[in-house]
This record gives sequence, structure tokens and C-alpha cells, in this order.
Amino acid sequence: MADSKVKDMGLAEFGRKELTLAEHEMPGLMAARKEFGPSQPFKGLNINGSLHMTIQTGVLIETLAALGAKVRWCSCNIFSTQDHAAAAIAKAGTSTVFAWKGETLPEYWWCTEQMMTVPGADGCDQLVDDGGDATLLVHKGKELEEKFAKDGSLPDPASTTNAEFKCVLQVLRDSIQADKTKYTRMAAKCKGVSEETTTGVHRLREMAAKGELLFPAINVNDCVTKSKFDNVYGCRHSLPDSIMRATDVMIGGKRALVAGYGDVGKGCAFAMRGAGARVLITEIDPICALQACMEGFQVVTIEEVVGEVDIFTSATGNFKIITLEHMKKMKNNAIVCNIGHFDNEIAMEDLENFPGIKVENIKPQVDRFVFPDGHGVIVLASGRLVNLGCATGHPSFVMSCSFTNQVLAQLDILENCTKAKKYKNDVYLLPKKLDEKVASLHLPSLGASLTKLSKEQAEYIGVKVEGPFKMDHYRY
Ligand code: NAI
Repeated sequence: MADSKVKDMGLAEFGRKELTLAEHEMPGLMAARKEFGPSQPFKGLNINGSLHMTIQTGVLIETLAALGAKVRWCSCNIFSTQDHAAAAIAKAGTSTVFAWKGETLPEYWWCTEQMMTVPGADGCDQLVDDGGDATLLVHKGKELEEKFAKDGSLPDPASTTNAEFKCVLQVLRDSIQADKTKYTRMAAKCKGVSEETTTGVHRLREMAAKGELLFPAINVNDCVTKSKFDNVYGCRHSLPDSIMRATDVMIGGKRALVAGYGDVGKGCAFAMRGAGARVLITEIDPICALQACMEGFQVVTIEEVVGEVDIFTSATGNFKIITLEHMKKMKNNAIVCNIGHFDNEIAMEDLENFPGIKVENIKPQVDRFVFPDGHGVIVLASGRLVNLGCATGHPSFVMSCSFTNQVLAQLDILENCTKAKKYKNDVYLLPKKLDEKVASLHLPSLGASLTKLSKEQAEYIGVKVEGPFKMDHYRY
């Protein structure tokens, strides 16, 4: 569409070829097009999204469009856009994209605002978010508009030292000075959000608990066919891919530490072990720590092993995991990366501002920080999610599971929030039956044959022949 902004439209043809290949690997999304396309459920609706602008996301965007939506999109990370994917979507002309690889922070928030701003309308009808930045912008925007209406003041972006928040305040300040109720109208117009990742769901739950959530949210992350597949098997594929593309280092024989043994950490740990590394785990949760032990991983604290580890990967969704003190003690050329949603898992600001530190840029998204004592640490993707910064994220097949859930979540928002007002401003899960449907759609292309439950067997274990096959509390 006319107002798209991408790096290079010349990459569109390459992007289109890869989109076509990806469609073949995304059976769930293609089945959704076939099932729901003819009835055009999203006709007349604006669905906007903030989610890594990759080839796989391109197939999601074109699926939402095939179901009738007008789509506007931006990336949810400054490094994660695949420029050929963005160009192909923009060139097709049905959806609008604001995204390029290597955005600055001000550009990132500009893109987010452009994505949220729908020409000729107050905002989008439904939102797709990954990590919660778009949701945050609407909530913060409305909050600042209310403050401005009350006392005529707006916070000064210079008043915060947080570079990211500075940009949020700047974008909102400019916007509110031009239109005093833009975000208030946007919040009223948006009927619901479907959130992709653990960290975004965490933010939503906090807002809901405080009664601050302005519209209902669907937690896509906790669909079994999302977090037990994308987070685990996606990272199992894309973590070593990114470390190898970035550094070409031999993983076999190295000591690799994975911080966090949740879904993402499990995938990372198995990948590093599969590549021949000796894997160490850090955990705060005794259950996850015990799981790691039972898989034969050594559970340690970073402090115990910091001088011996070759490759550090943070996968916690928490902050301050790899600190400056740790990096000071690491061995020369230790590799440091993060696969969690936000870059605050690694103390990047402290590292960048350490007196006497020198930065050697090896290539885009690979920097060697050299301490005054001469030892260096190799930081990947400036501490941002390494698999999308230094490689191309998860492969299409696993993203098909995640994104089929996104489409089902958007259809759920349509039925229960846009057409009817069944949901409160809270965080909801999709029914298990839909999770099972997403899995079913992905079995044939793997050549799997599912055993059919007999009526007698179904009665014996207390389920229906057609499912759902497990109780809601089952953990898989
Ligand atoms: P999770 O909650 O399943 O796992 C996180 C684990 O970290 C938990 O077991 C927790 O006990 C542990 N942890 C928390 N603080 C810790 C600390 N100080 N030290 C050691 N361990 C600690 O979450 P999940 O799904 O594994 O996600 C982790 C992060 O990865 C989130 O930010 C999520 O949004 C992100 N993510 C990234 C993806 C990618 O492609 N890069 C894909 C999916 C999720």
C-alpha cells in the first residue's frame, strides 16, 4: 500500500519466492485460508500487528488478508525484519508494512505508531502483538492524554535514562500535541489483542490484575501448540543457527551455559547438547532445575562457572541475568547472547558505558567488547533476541502452529469481543479443542497416522471420541 516504508522494494521478488516456499511449509495457515477464506469473516476490519516481520509472518499477514482484513504491520524488534519479506508484502499492495532490519530506537517507535495509525479511522479493530509494545503504546498514550487533559503537562523524554522509554515518550508527546485524544479513541476502537509471547502475556496479566487493561486479550503463547512447539523446537533450531551464522564457532566440545530452563531454555539446551557442547543450566525454580538434572544437565549458578564457559545464552524472560560483573570475569572471546524477548537480560548499558571499554564491530549484529585488561566478549545482536537478530528466526513449519493459533485467536476476538461483548478486559486462553485442531492440521505433512479412539476406550478414559483428549490442567 501507498504508505508502506520498507528498506528496498527491489527485494520483493526474492521475498515472494520465499513466501511461496513458506506457504508449502505452513499447512495450518493454508488450511485456515481454505476453511475461512470463502466467508470473509474479517471483511471491513482493520487488523494491525507488531510481530517480527519475517517470511513466516508474511504468510500470517496474507492469511489475515485472505480472510478479508485490511492489515497494517510493523516488527516488534529492531533487528528482526527480513527486508525481502517486508518488500514482498508491501509490493503486493493489500497490506501496509513499516519495518526494516536495523531500525534505530526512534525509528522503531515511529514504525509502531505508523502501524497503529489507520488513515480514515480511529485505529484498528483488532490487534496482534508480540511482547506487548503496541499494547503498551496504546495504554501509555491514553494515560498521557488523560494527564494532559487534567493538568496540561506531558513528561519530558529527557527525564528518563531508559533509551527505549525516552522514544515512547517522544512519540507520544508529538502525537498528543497534534491530536489530544488519538490514543483514547484508539483504545476504545480496539476490541482485543492476541499476544504471541511469554513476556507479552506477563505484561498483560500484570495490567489485568491492576484493572488497567483496556481491552480483552487472548494468550496465544500458552496454547500448547505454541509454547510447547515454537518456544521449544523453534529455539532448538534457531539458537545454534544464529550462533553459527554470527561466529562460525565450533560448538562441539565447548561449555555452553543456558540461563533459564523453561520452554525456550529446554530447546536451547538440547540444541547445544546436540551440537556437542557440554551444557550447564541456571535456574531459580527447583522444578525446572530438577528437570534439567534428570536430563543430565549440570545445574549451576553463573558465579560458579563464569570463567570457564565459552557460550552464554540467556532464556529467562527476566532481567539482569548476565551482568557487567559476569562479563568482566568471562574468558577471552566468550560468546554472550540472549534469546529472551527483551535485551535487558544482558547488562548492555553497563557494558557499553564501562570506563575504557572498546567495541570492535566484526559485522552487523556481532560486536567484540574489549575490556581494559585486554580480554574481550563477543556480544550477539546487541543483546537482543539472537535467533532473529543473527539468523532468520524459527522455521516456517513451527511458526505455522503458532500463527494458526493467532488466526484462531483473531477469529475468537471477532466472535466474542467485536460482534458480541462476551469477554471482560482480562486475559483468555483458546479452548483445548482448537489446540488439538492446530496439531491435527500439521500431522499429515509429517506422515503421521493418528490412532482413532474407540467409543468403548473413550468411555473408559472419560473423554469424547472426537476430543478434547486431555483435561485443561494436563501439562504435556
Ligand atoms: P518460561 O517461563 O517457560 O521459562 C523461563 C525460565 O527462566 C523459567 O523456568 C524461570 O524459572 C527461569 N528464570 C527466571 N529468572 C531466572 C534467573 N534469574 N536465573 C535463571 N533462570 C531464571 O518462558 P519461555 O517461554 O521459556 O520464554 C523465555 C523468554 O523467551 C521470554 O522472554 C519469551 O517471550 C521469549 N521467547 C523468545 C522466543 C524467540 O524466538 N527468541 C520464542 C519464544 C519465547
